[in-house]
Amino acid sequence: MTRVRFLDPRGDLSAEVEASAGERLLDVAQAASQPLEGTCEGQMACSTCHVIVAAEDFDSLPPVSEMEEDLLDLAAHVSRTSRLACQIWLTEELEQLTVRMPGAAHDMTGR
Ligand code: FES
Repeated sequence: MTRVRFLDPRGDLSAEVEASAGERLLDVAQAASQPLEGTCEGQMACSTCHVIVAAEDFDSLPPVSEMEEDLLDLAAHVSRTSRLACQIWLTEELEQLTVRMPGAAHDMTGR
């Protein structure tokens, strides 16, 4: 199980849930009523599933693909730890993951 913490754009905790390996972060977020549209359902055509990953968790995630990087270029409020939630599948090794909804100029490394 992975403990997933969702923060609002200001960095305040909005939900904390347990999720299983193999679950997709976008689905976990939507089940937790987080405001991620995910319009294209993971077809890499929208970037409305953009989240900002906590710096301490970022390196535990699989690397960003070139296609994801290209799509992130189109997203608003991108940070150096931005990812697309539709491209993150939780793994056994990942014990915790904190992500913030984009929307404000706020760097999570400073928390
Ligand atoms: S849901 Fe569209 S790119 Fe992730």
